[in-house]
Amino acid sequence: FGLMTYDPAYTNTASCRSSVTFIDGDVGILEYRGYPIEQLAEKSTYLEVAYLLVYGELPTQQQLDWWVNEITLHTFVHENVKEFVGGFRHDAHPMGMLLGAVGALSTFYPDAFDIDDPASREIQTIRLISKMPTLAAFAYRHIQGRPYVYPDNDLAYPDNFLSMMYKMTELKYEPDPRLSRALDILFILHADHEQNCSTSAVRSVGSSQVDPYSAVAAGIAALYGPLHGGANEAVLRMLRRIESVDNIPGFIEGVKAGNERLMGFGHRVYKNYDPRAKIIKSAAEDVFEVTGRNPLLDIALELEKIALEDEYFVQRKLYPNVDFYSGLIYEALGLPVEMFPVMFAIPRTSGWIAQWLEMTQDGEQKIARPRQIYTGDRGRDYVPIASR
Ligand code: CMC
Repeated sequence: FGLMTYDPAYTNTASCRSSVTFIDGDVGILEYRGYPIEQLAEKSTYLEVAYLLVYGELPTQQQLDWWVNEITLHTFVHENVKEFVGGFRHDAHPMGMLLGAVGALSTFYPDAFDIDDPASREIQTIRLISKMPTLAAFAYRHIQGRPYVYPDNDLAYPDNFLSMMYKMTELKYEPDPRLSRALDILFILHADHEQNCSTSAVRSVGSSQVDPYSAVAAGIAALYGPLHGGANEAVLRMLRRIESVDNIPGFIEGVKAGNERLMGFGHRVYKNYDPRAKIIKSAAEDVFEVTGRNPLLDIALELEKIALEDEYFVQRKLYPNVDFYSGLIYEALGLPVEMFPVMFAIPRTSGWIAQWLEMTQDGEQKIARPRQIYTGDRGRDYVPIASR
């Protein structure tokens, strides 16, 4: 096999050059386009961060006004997309619905295949970021058996999403500003994370020069899995199963014996505290001020404390990751666990599309086509079925 390297999970292979997101996992640093995540979470908004990811620079006021206006203009989906969402079973997983609906969007925008045209790339970028909350809310309403609520374009991005999710009357829905700010912070924290599984899927599928909706649908599929975007859902289920602080030592013993994983802990890149987990922990406190304290928080805090002192976790450098506390916030916002990975997909769309845009402009990028180490038989003679 010559000089071929065997690296089945790409733990030591750089698949691209990128200037979008920087991570130093040993010290716990995350920067978008060079700006530390802590500053962005404190001072910025999700849409401003999305602009930063897509265009590489923070916008001027004029650029931001244009961007927010464009994103707001495109929040509606074609009525047939709504019908498409309506065709799923009443108990369909909303992530599967989102995956199907985003894939279906490519059929509504045939111009999306003009990936060499900058104007086409820009409008698909805007459409994807603006329609994702609408599709997510439609999926949620579908499983609730409630009528869909159309976007209210007077509202800011997170408020509009909350309105489509929770509006119950004809009256305008205006969420508590502390909740919409917490949601916006969660969106900022989840916007990009360099070459994670779903972003790699977007790049890999996008390298075939398919349209960006299909490439992003591949990202959603990757994010659906419990080791990636499904982890926050798994954390909540785990906390509920543990039930009480008294059961934590027994649970930890089971993890150490290899029976199961402590979900929301560990990361391929971070061998230190995930900086996003710290910010989320404080956003959770803000949310609980409005919604009341979630008793599962006490289990989470105690689990974290015990794990951070336990030899097993210390030795393996396992720290809380972004998913450890995010699920608690989503639950406080009244979301069923099935919606948690959807809440990850909405903001990650800006990162996926920023990475996709970068890839389409990268002259070195060919179609992604890894090789393999073949381990099967060779040169066998075909045996007729009667003789096998
Ligand atoms: N609980 C218990 N043990 C663990 C955990 C965990 N959460 N994570 C890793 N380990 C152990 C693992 O068993 C192995 O031990 P040993 O060396 O004795 O075999 C060692 O730590 C290294 O684990 P690994 O599986 O080789 O590490 P990885 O880099 O392949 O996996 C991970 C990274 C995130 C998939 C893994 O830590 C995990 O499964 N965590 C739980 C799921 C989770 O929280 N995922 C969210 C990731 S962050 C958000 C995102 O990117 O989507």
